[in-house]
Amino acid sequence: MTHKKIPQHLLALMSDGEFHSGEKIGELLGVSRAAVWKQLQKLEELGLSFESIKGKGYRLETQLDFMSAADISALLIKTYPVPEISVHEVIDSTNAEILRLIQTNTISKGHTVLAEMQQTGRGRRGRQWVSPFGRNVYLSMLWSFERGMASLDGLSLVVGLCVVKALQRQSAKRLELKWPNDVLCEGKKLAGILLEVVGDPTGLCHVVIGIGINVNWKKNGVSTGIDQPWTSLLEINDAYMDRNPLVAALINELLQALPVFDDQGFAYFADEWQQYDAFIGKEVVIQMGDNMIVGVAAGVTDKGELKLQTPQGIQTYNGGEVSLRKKL
Ligand code: BTN
Repeated sequence: MTHKKIPQHLLALMSDGEFHSGEKIGELLGVSRAAVWKQLQKLEELGLSFESIKGKGYRLETQLDFMSAADISALLIKTYPVPEISVHEVIDSTNAEILRLIQTNTISKGHTVLAEMQQTGRGRRGRQWVSPFGRNVYLSMLWSFERGMASLDGLSLVVGLCVVKALQRQSAKRLELKWPNDVLCEGKKLAGILLEVVGDPTGLCHVVIGIGINVNWKKNGVSTGIDQPWTSLLEINDAYMDRNPLVAALINELLQALPVFDDQGFAYFADEWQQYDAFIGKEVVIQMGDNMIVGVAAGVTDKGELKLQTPQGIQTYNGGEVSLRKKL
């Protein structure tokens, strides 16, 4: 895949979020006034919206700062070996990159890849994860486990909890978790998690922990193609957020939780997870293929399975798509 070219000079000029006249932009880029519009279209191709006001010029809807591996590393706790961190401008998918690196045998636990933009961001259930430039967090971390895939039960829920705690450290409020691992705010999706596992089903296996968080992304009436209600920290707080401390907080949470999970399993986290359970006590529907199961959400088991109160008693589920049952 050829990577999209980033208009560096234009971004450097526009990243302050202030107005710049067409004349100034033209001068900087060495193009005619008429060609400026074409250059600005490149921002839209990256998923960056801008406004244009007669007499003032053009500006991005908010400022734009870049993620920095050095700034993030400086904020990491020193109790654990500081992991290797790289930030890509454009990549197909940070999960795909970690999977490639696993093949080279050159990376170790905690290795983290971030990107400003993903061209083919992966979501759960084969969905796409829409990944515009410079606005959000797209992070993948490698962690390895020696006791096979059965020891990974509940891992994705623990990662959801890490995301919630990292967001809270950045003052985010009203966060909830939707089983297994969507992070919601006021019922809308704020972050998603995709785990991909490779290796020996009964021995050493490598998990790619992929996390996407909507940070400085505004809806702006533009269609994103996302088929579910979503939000971002900017939408919630009406304030721009520096992504570097958020990413550092997230890595710190993961570095603390993953060894505990490896040692004690999900049972250690079950009570804490349930404090954020968006659906507990509510009527839900689980869609499993063509099957629909209706019941009242009753929390999670020590393995991270969903518990459902049904007329036949408590049933547990380890798959399927959960949604609130619509009132008729
Ligand atoms: C979901 O569908 O809820 C999961 C979304 C996971 C998106 C993240 S962004 C970083 C990492 N790289 C990917 O391609 N996907 C995950």
